Amino acid sequence: MRDYISFIFFSLIVFMILSGCYKYNPVCESCVEYNPTPISLIYPFASFPAPNTPPWNQLTEEGVNLGRHLFYDPILSSDNTVSCASCHKQEYAFGDNTQYSFGINQSLGERNAPTIINIAFHTAFDWDGKSSSVEDQASRPIFNEIELHNNNWSEVINRIKMSELYLDLFCAAFGTSDIDSSHVLKAIAQFERTLISDNSKFDQYLRGEVVLSPEEIRGFNIYSTERGDCFHCHPIGLFTNNMFHNNGIDSQFEDLGRYNVTNNMLDQGAFKSPSLRNIEFSAPYMHDGRFETLEQVIDHYDFGGYDSPTVDPLMKYIGIGLMLTEQEKTDLKAFLLTLSDESFINNADFSNPF
Ligand code: HEC
Ligand code: HEC
Repeated sequence: MRDYISFIFFSLIVFMILSGCYKYNPVCESCVEYNPTPISLIYPFASFPAPNTPPWNQLTEEGVNLGRHLFYDPILSSDNTVSCASCHKQEYAFGDNTQYSFGINQSLGERNAPTIINIAFHTAFDWDGKSSSVEDQASRPIFNEIELHNNNWSEVINRIKMSELYLDLFCAAFGTSDIDSSHVLKAIAQFERTLISDNSKFDQYLRGEVVLSPEEIRGFNIYSTERGDCFHCHPIGLFTNNMFHNNGIDSQFEDLGRYNVTNNMLDQGAFKSPSLRNIEFSAPYMHDGRFETLEQVIDHYDFGGYDSPTVDPLMKYIGIGLMLTEQEKTDLKAFLLTLSDESFINNADFSNPF
């Protein structure tokens, strides 16, 4: 009898020590062998700028793997229903196919969910550039009332600490089970930086692997000359210049865009030039998802755009229009479709790990 009691007592102590370790001790068993594998981004060095990876968040296989789990896991939302991937879906080039996406409690967002493509090479994030780093951007949806909505981090962190899976993943990625918010953001940012698209038909053409059709070549010429004048704001390479412009979709602004960040009158109605890579997959278009098709977008630029005090000087055909022929419009669209990268939207490394 006495043996029996001391056995139970002993087991209880062992159990308490072990569970205590897994929950609170930074150096748990799985962390003892902390030995992450560094990885470097592979990208077209000639046409992309250097990545924005900060020295304090270098990529590792384990960090990216953790970030991928967090990206797809509703655990980050206050009611466990919405994840980053609810609005940033791989099949739509990590954008969404609706004008505004649903956040928690079926509440609608106020802007169209942008794609997440090659953001390791972007310099500002969100339509108005309010986020200055990938890490900073990742914290916003977690507190945004509509997106994931959490009032405080400790709630998220506690939930994560209750999960054996995450304790292992955090140990492997950061050598600690003493998880805090900066680990969460770092890991998500690491995963996002791996979302590189550089294998569209147009990339293959630039590498000399395929030829473009006559229609696509004509479209390319319209795109990259003064005829269509698209390349200034969406230059070859990233297909965004990382800058903010008013491209004339309105003469009065419901959403003041970049102005909300800078308070500079000249920024009213200016938004980040979105990347045109994989544009085929990410309809509807513009910050408010107003255009459903590429034909409508092309018609907007063909019309020339609406005048306003802040319309960009690069919108040179206000009131005149590009006056593209129907053939030229079809050619321009054919070129835009060469920016589709099937290997990006089908890359198994980017997919839901659960
Ligand atoms: C409810 C839908 C929704 C959810 C959930 C959501 N996002 Fe977003 N995301 C958006 C919208 C809308 C924007 C544009 C915000 C703005 O311009 O103010 C955006 C912008 C972004 C951008 C900027 C892209 C660029 O090129 O500037 C990134 C990166 C991003 N989200 C990543 C994430 C991550 C990581 C999560 C999860 C932690 C997440 N999003 C959750 C809708 C969502
Ligand atoms: C003055 C700079 C500028 C020029 C020139 C320009 N764009 Fe844009 N483009 C933008 C900006 C800024 C946006 C986003 C505007 C918004 O959301 O309100 C945009 C949005 C787009 C979109 C929608 C992308 C998305 O993800 O929603 C497409 C497609 C597009 N442009 C194609 C073109 C084409 C084709 C041309 C040439 C005919 C062109 N652009 C010329 C700045 C420009």
